Amino acid sequence: MAEVRFIADDGSETVLDVQPGNTLMMAAVFDGITAIEGVCGGCLSCATCHVYVDEPWRDRLPAPSRDELRMLAEVAAERRPGSRLSCQIEMREDLAGLVVRTPDRQY
Ligand code: FES
Repeated sequence: MAEVRFIADDGSETVLDVQPGNTLMMAAVFDGITAIEGVCGGCLSCATCHVYVDEPWRDRLPAPSRDELRMLAEVAAERRPGSRLSCQIEMREDLAGLVVRTPDRQY
């Protein structure tokens, strides 16, 4: 398990232990982080799993695919340099301590 810190728009924090191989979206949805919707279940068709990855972690993640970039153009909240779709972030042991912030809305 590897810890991930989710920081909400209001500053509240939730720390989850995420199983490596699991996506951040799945972990968040199953653990009740309501700021992440994940409506399409991770098949890159909804853009409701938008998160902002904190700066020190961005380069440690695989670059977004062309399909993720296409869907990032559809996010409801402001798109920022750390914007990613959490259904495309697969947890690894070496990502323990990852910090992501959730946007103020997904629609
Ligand atoms: S869950 Fe739908 S695009 Fe990520």
